Amino acid sequence: MNSFHLLIFSVVILFRCLNPTRAANCNPDDEAGLLAFKSGITKDPSGILSSWKNDTSCCSWDGVNCRNNDRVVTLTVNIESVDAGIFLAGTISPSLAKLQHLEGLVFINLKNITGPFPRFLFRLPRLEYVYLENSRLSGPLPVNIGSLSHLDMLTVKGNQFTGPIPKSISNLTRLNYLNLGGNLLTGTIPLGIGNLKLMSNLNLDDNRLSGTIPNIFKPLTKLRVLTLSRNGFSGTLPPSIASLAPVLAFLELSQNNLSGSIPSYLSRFKSLDTLDLSKNRFSGAVPKSLSKLTKIANINLSHNLLTDPFPVMNVKDDILTLDLSYNKFQMKKIPDWITSTSLLYSLKLANCGIKMRLDDWKPTRTDHYVSIDLSENDIRGSPATLFKEEHQLREFRASGNKLRFDMEKLSISKSLETLDLSRNLVFGKVPVTVDGLKRLNLSQNHLCGKLPVTKFPASAFAGNKDCLCGYPLAPCKG
Ligand SMILES: *[C@@H]1O[C@H](CO)[C@@H](O)[C@H](O)[C@H]1NC(C)=O
Ligand SMILES: *[C@@H]1O[C@H](CO)[C@@H](O)[C@H](O)[C@H]1NC(C)=O
Ligand SMILES: *[C@@H]1O[C@H](CO)[C@@H](O)[C@H](O)[C@H]1NC(C)=O
Ligand SMILES: *[C@@H]1O[C@H](CO)[C@@H](O)[C@H](O)[C@H]1NC(C)=O
Ligand SMILES: *[C@@H]1O[C@H](CO)[C@@H](O)[C@H](O)[C@H]1NC(C)=O
Ligand SMILES: *[C@@H]1O[C@H](CO)[C@@H](O)[C@H](O)[C@H]1NC(C)=O
Repeated sequence: MNSFHLLIFSVVILFRCLNPTRAANCNPDDEAGLLAFKSGITKDPSGILSSWKNDTSCCSWDGVNCRNNDRVVTLTVNIESVDAGIFLAGTISPSLAKLQHLEGLVFINLKNITGPFPRFLFRLPRLEYVYLENSRLSGPLPVNIGSLSHLDMLTVKGNQFTGPIPKSISNLTRLNYLNLGGNLLTGTIPLGIGNLKLMSNLNLDDNRLSGTIPNIFKPLTKLRVLTLSRNGFSGTLPPSIASLAPVLAFLELSQNNLSGSIPSYLSRFKSLDTLDLSKNRFSGAVPKSLSKLTKIANINLSHNLLTDPFPVMNVKDDILTLDLSYNKFQMKKIPDWITSTSLLYSLKLANCGIKMRLDDWKPTRTDHYVSIDLSENDIRGSPATLFKEEHQLREFRASGNKLRFDMEKLSISKSLETLDLSRNLVFGKVPVTVDGLKRLNLSQNHLCGKLPVTKFPASAFAGNKDCLCGYPLAPCKG
């Protein structure tokens, strides 16, 4: 997606280079349309539109780009700041229909713009791309959305649109990017999406879509990104997903109700970077052939019903994140291929049936882990050796194990932010160095003595057999 944003900005810059703004008059219709848009904005606390004044050429206004110093061709209002104080409130004036030469409309993160899908878009014959991301537009998507037939990109991500995806979307045959993510859309995926042969990114995540994923992917030979996460899709993966093998890089289907086994054809996905099937009901063993995915960087299969054995992966580049937590794995130890993988930033193997001494785990290349989660296993020993080697570690979670070591002797590095050792057999005193952490949980261990002064609540220390005392727990006796 970011590459598409980049593309847009390159296009915008290109226009700027081709059309240096000479002292120009913008077309009166365009100026009137833009000023009407400005007057529909009721709040602009940080002055995003402050350069839009009728005594200067509209071609020089922030976000406005003209061709031949005359007609406005692109309008870009992109609030990159996450700062809550920077936003636009109001509605989008239909007078923008006066911008008859408009090719691109980009409204990103305006946050507090309300109203329905802007129908004036249907009156703009040259429109090629529309970004209406992260505002509060609502109501249905127009049934005749398919008549915006010149569009090659359409995103309405992060609004509050309701109702079904209009069937006419199948007429947007020039589309290569469609993002309807983060809305309240219902119903099923229209079969006609299979007509959109130029599609490279299809994002329908974070909606209330349901039904099975239709078997429509055979013609979509250019698809690089398929994101259907966080909906209510059920059933098995349709066989035509197999035809995406040469190009697909991101397959993200997490948090649905998908079932069946993980298909072995995935091993042919030579370009696959990210495979996220987490929080579904996939079952059975993961096909051994997945070890052929030598380019994969992110694998998330957590929260499914998968069983042993997990294939020995053979990644040539570096794997960056791996999450196999909460399945039915009984791995016994951390697999050797993981231990020898050169660059793994985030490793989550919670509830994987690991029974080992943590001291015996010696990753081949040290100092690269940022996050490790080994919760809910049968792990003994101490994280002391690991902490000595992994200076980048920011998060370590190992709740619900049998770690047994003297907490006072654990050296906590400056980089560590989150430490969850709850429900273990940790003993000794709590050292004052824990106050440097952002999140801590030492509840339900065998800790003892007076607590140092820290910012953490009582729940972070509860259940230590009444031996731990002092604020925020009960005062120490005597
Ligand atoms: C420009 O806007 C001001 C204030 O909105 C208005 O008073 C003035 O008449 C406008 N000038 C022109 C040339 O439209
Ligand atoms: C903007 O929207 C946020 C919620 O997204 C809300 O808290 C805030 O009050 C709104 N501000 C205005 C001026 O509408
Ligand atoms: C697609 O466009 C054609 C021609 O304009 C029209 O006949 C057809 O009804 C449209 N399809 C949908 C699903 O709207
Ligand atoms: C998920 O699918 C199972 C059958 O595979 C069904 O029993 C269950 O009700 C579904 N859950 C939801 C939330 O749709
Ligand atoms: C894997 O997915 C789950 C749920 O979708 C999420 O909570 C978890 O953070 C993901 N793991 C990684 C390593 O990103
Ligand atoms: C600490 O962990 C326990 C048990 O794992 C959990 O019930 C509790 O909510 C956690 N407390 C905090 C502050 O994270």
